Amino acid sequence: MILMTSNARKILVTSALPYANAPLHLGHMLEQVQTDIWVRFQRSRGHQCLYVCADDAHGTAIMLSAEAAGVTPEAHIDAVKSDHLRDSTGFLIGFDQYYSTHSEENRQWSERIFQKLDAAGHISVREIIQAYDQEKGLFLADRFIKGTCPRCKAADQYGDNCEVCGATYSPSDLIDPVSALSGSAPVDRASDHLFFKLGDFTELLTTWTRAGSLQPAVANKLGEWIEAGLQDWDISRDAPYFGFEIPGYPDKYFYVWLDAPIGYMASFQRFCAEHDEDFDAWWQPDSQTELYHFIGKDIVNFHGLFWPAMLRASGLRLPTAIFAHGFLTVDGTKMSKSRGTFIKASTYLDHLDPEHLRYYFAAKLSAGVDDFDLNLSDFVQRVNSDLVGKVVNIASRCAGFLRKNFDNKLSDECDEPDLVRSFIDAGDGIAELYENREFGRAMRDIIALADRANQYIDDKKPWVMAKDPEQVDDVQAVCSVGINLFRVLMTYLKPVLPGMAERAEAFLKISTDWHELQAPLLGHTLEDFKPLLQRVDPDSVTAMIESGKVS
Ligand code: MSP
Ligand code: ZN
Repeated sequence: MILMTSNARKILVTSALPYANAPLHLGHMLEQVQTDIWVRFQRSRGHQCLYVCADDAHGTAIMLSAEAAGVTPEAHIDAVKSDHLRDSTGFLIGFDQYYSTHSEENRQWSERIFQKLDAAGHISVREIIQAYDQEKGLFLADRFIKGTCPRCKAADQYGDNCEVCGATYSPSDLIDPVSALSGSAPVDRASDHLFFKLGDFTELLTTWTRAGSLQPAVANKLGEWIEAGLQDWDISRDAPYFGFEIPGYPDKYFYVWLDAPIGYMASFQRFCAEHDEDFDAWWQPDSQTELYHFIGKDIVNFHGLFWPAMLRASGLRLPTAIFAHGFLTVDGTKMSKSRGTFIKASTYLDHLDPEHLRYYFAAKLSAGVDDFDLNLSDFVQRVNSDLVGKVVNIASRCAGFLRKNFDNKLSDECDEPDLVRSFIDAGDGIAELYENREFGRAMRDIIALADRANQYIDDKKPWVMAKDPEQVDDVQAVCSVGINLFRVLMTYLKPVLPGMAERAEAFLKISTDWHELQAPLLGHTLEDFKPLLQRVDPDSVTAMIESGKVS
């Protein structure tokens, strides 16, 4: 149950919608964990924070994967969605709704938004010439055309660039081009396409991209595109295509990226229907609610240009901010299937604890768009040292004395009120870091507090006091301070470590929500202490990498 404080904010948050044609990998998890930590932080502070996501189910690639698997696209996307949801749940991602872009809500919103754009004159139709595979009966996107490089003559080069000599070209320059789908030679074929006239929104986008809703690096990148002149955006694809047919244009389908961001709304609408929440109050232009999209840096154009333009043209609210992150690398290089570092979410979960990675992500994440390196030996060392060696250690060393000699009861008075107070007061600064997505700096501050707590216990030496009949009663006072410090730290770590926080709550017999943290726990009886977190076993990391290797 979420207790609302009087100045509670209403916040809607999304992660990018994963494509329904491949399993989730640790790059996806970096994004979902970053989002989930921020969402859990907001909830812990007493705000209403809703987190929705969905599978991005449309497009040629998904249609072809279904065909290759010998199933209908519907059956294919259902199976992938349940795998995605299983993996996200495994990483303790707390979605309020996980939906699919192939839904009735999404069809309706896509049609409605398209009709608004069309009625306002923002859609144009014109003929374009494209490569066409006569055998498959399909227009071919660049990545489905192969041929010999016009510069170095290397065979079997895809689409528009040569992996051998690095030349870039248009697929029509390839020597002896063939369709990667059928091997037949593509022919040129004309067809009408629908375009969204993004240039109509130049003024809006110039202002919006500079108004503080974007990180500086993203705002600069989009600024360059705007200055170069915004091009019309091709939003239609010809049948056969797995997607939504465009009303009034038989055999034309919405391009997957047209209905994908609308999927955020569709997923939220589904949530509202199931939870009696007022959808319109969140999407009207004057809404008092906040809307944030967490995305990777590769898709900022869709979220920072097309999406705000579509929303404005449809009379809907714009995002409060877009939070882009960098790409995950493993041991300093791009994830690689042959090295075993293309780590699927499910492979990780088969070998390791999700909270270990959640903590490692938090410990190194910042608000910027730099790439994120998962360094496997640093991962083992960092988690074991910070969480097990420092945080859990505080509770485990104090709990033993309290159970043996004091029936698990904390002292009635606080022996170190200033120390406990200083831990509680540190919360404002840590909260600000969380709010600004400076999770790495937040973790550093929290671990510095853990160091101080351990230092306090080391100075007092309860294990020495316990042997001295004159001092034995002080053991309760010291260990009670230790438990109180642990409780504060656990409160600050709960957004990152929800499972460990739950176990700590069972031990402490209180909730560790941030907005409930005011005074020390006194005269309170604890539950018997049980292990809160295992160490990371380096052998499990090795086993994970080995099992992920694909030759
Ligand atoms: N379907 C689109 C998003 C539509 S949102 C309306 C898409 N899907 S994706 O599956 O390719 O990527 C989903 C998210 O994961 C994107 O934000 C993408 O940037 C992110 N990542 C994919 N690979 C990644 C890494 N290696 N590292 C970090 N994030 C990565 O794009
Ligand atoms: Zn070449």
